[in-house]
Amino acid sequence: MALITSTEMFKKAIAGKYAVGAFNVNNMEIIQGIMEAAQQERSPLILQVSAGARKYAKPIYLMKLVEAAMIDTGLDVCLHLDHGENFEICKQCVDDGFSSVMIDASSRPYEENIAETKKVVEYAHAHGVVVEAELGKLAGIEDAVNVSAADAAFTDPEQAADFVAKTGVDSLAIAIGTSHGAYKFKGEPRLDFERLEKVTSLMPGFPIVLHGASSVPQYLVERCNSFGGQIPGAQGVPEEMLRKAATMGVAKINIDTDIRLAVTSTIRQVFVEQPEVFDPRTYLKPAREAIKDMVAHKMRDVLGSSGKID
Ligand code: G3H
Ligand code: 13P
Ligand code: ZN
Repeated sequence: MALITSTEMFKKAIAGKYAVGAFNVNNMEIIQGIMEAAQQERSPLILQVSAGARKYAKPIYLMKLVEAAMIDTGLDVCLHLDHGENFEICKQCVDDGFSSVMIDASSRPYEENIAETKKVVEYAHAHGVVVEAELGKLAGIEDAVNVSAADAAFTDPEQAADFVAKTGVDSLAIAIGTSHGAYKFKGEPRLDFERLEKVTSLMPGFPIVLHGASSVPQYLVERCNSFGGQIPGAQGVPEEMLRKAATMGVAKINIDTDIRLAVTSTIRQVFVEQPEVFDPRTYLKPAREAIKDMVAHKMRDVLGSSGKID
């Protein structure tokens, strides 16, 4: 087993009309829960590390934990930097041995986004590392109150094709109505599938990425709230929409919030039901199991990635 790029994973996923889950990791229990699910499901996967995760856990710990998880499970892993804000952090991760990095210069003017992305692509490709970039602003469709606001925030399909041609990037995150966190839609959940279709028709077979793609399962929100949590009205991307996107050229689906909910709701329950507990293993073990169950369900019933590794 080894760290691998997402190139072959994405090719197979697009041809097979499923998506690969990219799960954010911050500590040992999260890595173990996700990896155990992938092992059980025989599913390809991406483990992704944000700048915040690197700061929290220190890069060396995350690298060694991922290495241990590969040895333990016998699985290959694509290790990816999530939302790298500039060339420097992308370079550091390439130098650390990551197999994939994201340069997210989407908040900068278009030409600057192109220039920074190109610089990362040049360095990463020279080291055998693949690159994801982003174009457009992640915002719920309800935030875009009219068509011109939606056009301003969401990814322009023609511009996406131009961006990919000019940068040589390996995958592209686009904005079609998802957003980060537990509150994704103000009203009815809605994604701009027409826009997605336009993007993929201009770039057939090119891997598209959906950020902000947690489904915020109601059982986790309710468990959280019934044990003292205060996240009323949390709402994610409905599973059937993610399933549909996975058949339409979306090759990578990013999930972090659902992991946070699985961990926190479980620990809350232990603390309320067993106030005498102070051994961390007593709450971290069920939290790890809750991650495994949630991720296995995603792979099987939402992404369609179960059984896709030999
Ligand atoms: O999209 C961002 C991810 O959820 C990572 O969040 O920067 O708090 O680690 P973080
Ligand atoms: P969620 O907040 O929906 O889990 O999105 C995570 C993400 O996009 C990480 O880059
Ligand atoms: Zn993201």
